[in-house]
Amino acid sequence: MTDIDRAELSADDWDELVNPRPEENDFDRVVESALSRRGFLSGLLVFGSGAAAMGAGLLNSTSARAAESRFAFTPIPAQTDGTVHVPDGYEWKVLVRWGDRLFEDAPEFDHATGGSVESSDRVFGENTDGMELFTVGDRQVIAVNHEYTNRKVNLPQAEGGVPRGPEDVLKLQNLQGVTVMEVEETGAGWRVVTGSPLNRRITHNTPMRLVGPAAGHALMQTEADPTGTESLGTMNNCGSGRTPWGTYLTCEENFNGYFGSTEAIQDQKPNVLPSGYDRYGIGPDGWGYDYHKWDARFDTSKNPNEPHRVGWVVEIDPSDPESTPVKHTGLGRFKHENAAVAVARDGRIVVYMGDDERGEFMYKFVSNGVYVPGGDTSGLLDDGTLYAAKFEDDGTGRWVALTPESTGMEPAEIAIFSRMAGSAVGATTMDRPEWIAVNPVAVEGYCCLTNNKNRGLKTNAGGDETPVGGPNPREANRYGQIVRWYPEGDDHTAEAFRWDLYVMAGNPTVHSDAYAGSENVNAGNLFNSPDGMAFDSTGIVWIQTDGDDDDEGDFAGMGNNQMLAGDPATGQIERFLTGPNGCEVTGLCWSADRRTMFVGIQHPGAPFPDGEGRLPRSSVIAVKRTDGGLVG
Ligand code: FEO
Ligand code: CA
Ligand code: CA
Repeated sequence: MTDIDRAELSADDWDELVNPRPEENDFDRVVESALSRRGFLSGLLVFGSGAAAMGAGLLNSTSARAAESRFAFTPIPAQTDGTVHVPDGYEWKVLVRWGDRLFEDAPEFDHATGGSVESSDRVFGENTDGMELFTVGDRQVIAVNHEYTNRKVNLPQAEGGVPRGPEDVLKLQNLQGVTVMEVEETGAGWRVVTGSPLNRRITHNTPMRLVGPAAGHALMQTEADPTGTESLGTMNNCGSGRTPWGTYLTCEENFNGYFGSTEAIQDQKPNVLPSGYDRYGIGPDGWGYDYHKWDARFDTSKNPNEPHRVGWVVEIDPSDPESTPVKHTGLGRFKHENAAVAVARDGRIVVYMGDDERGEFMYKFVSNGVYVPGGDTSGLLDDGTLYAAKFEDDGTGRWVALTPESTGMEPAEIAIFSRMAGSAVGATTMDRPEWIAVNPVAVEGYCCLTNNKNRGLKTNAGGDETPVGGPNPREANRYGQIVRWYPEGDDHTAEAFRWDLYVMAGNPTVHSDAYAGSENVNAGNLFNSPDGMAFDSTGIVWIQTDGDDDDEGDFAGMGNNQMLAGDPATGQIERFLTGPNGCEVTGLCWSADRRTMFVGIQHPGAPFPDGEGRLPRSSVIAVKRTDGGLVG
């Protein structure tokens, strides 16, 4: 497997190579689900009728068609070329690329080598993903994730991108993690302030503190850290979040891929609950990073508890480059996509989170303490209750508390093995929960369910069924949808909620059944696999895609991955930006004056942005109106 580039297979496909699922569910159950799907789609929840039917009062089908656009741009067509497109009246420029200098002592990027190991933690990392902008005094600082590596691109001199030894492994470890960088706008556009005292690289080896219910537990202890409270590095940093107190949240997603074993795996896990490795996809080979062959920390035959020390949400203070990042075990361990934070009316902190794997769950955390601006925030992300979402077909649902009583697990086990806790309470298996976003102008949350080819066909890794229905209404779902929920009493701490589907992506030019998508999908805004998502300050939701960009067959007319704007009130969705072919569009934040939006272009397939003969480089671009107006 090690000669397969990670970018050639989805994360879930890697997992299923290592840990195959049962082939088919019970036939009768599939038939039953298909029948209920027809009833479902003909009635309650096709866009435009759902919320009205549930009394949410925001949507109806006539307003969806007749409403005037809230968007200040003219939508653009799909594209299949190797660059970025934005509407007339907007412009984009590159802010920073993989390998660009963050510190004065770093060399210029070398396209022949992809940079040296010595410089690899002094430059902007690979695969830009979630990001947030912070104001620190009179400076603007972006904290941004580097999710994984493209080994053939990052190690151009290693055959097949296979690490040749510890130096190649260290280079990969350094190119991932997080960048904190000061940015400033000049007459020539935005730039990174090279050498700013606030600039920082956090890598797979940066010391971190473990806090919360799992910290110190026997399952967290290793030979190097017998206290179970100090780990090294943050890994596979996918989506992001921010706290009201000005810190950055980075979310560890496909952490399992970094671990492997130099000995037979069945002999190596005396301290691990029997299903932990299977449920989290930790196998003997890893995903081709080969860390375990060169760095014993990642060899599970030597350090069986090391995988327990990743899979968390990590808090970073972007104002203090000397601060120690904190892993909050209270927020659970799974393949974290992002962390959407809301302050409830009583001041408690609510964190919504998705677990991005086929058939895994949505979670939320509610703090025990309340947030007081300027007050002590320690404990607010650990001392509280973790819940998993359970959706009913009738448009209602509940957040089910994961407690010793409901799960039969100890608090530390609930944190470390949150997936098993979710299974224990019968949480709803979802179509790969990606980013969650909370509307700043209404008490409602949105989650991208990106796609799930196994829906109705295979169980999740824990053996939970994946019936067709509820917010996952299409068998073998290849297009994805966005589910929205309305907490009872307009209170984010409430256990009860109502829900609808904001959009079901699809292709009405190819299909006339459920795969045509919901009413707010049309030939002019085709997309698949919603993934990144963020609200701007005006309440427009921006949707980024990570899907099939072949532009053929089921995906004809969709073009390259893209970013669209959605109006929550009318359901209108329009295409704003298209990325270069092969890329994922992911990561979005705004300048302090809201006149620039920063957008991430991850793993372009084309030689973007430097042109032919150059390596493709993941980049953050700055998008502005040519008249300097507000962009969100
Ligand atoms: Fe890293 Fe689920 O996207
Ligand atoms: Ca993502
Ligand atoms: Ca994705």
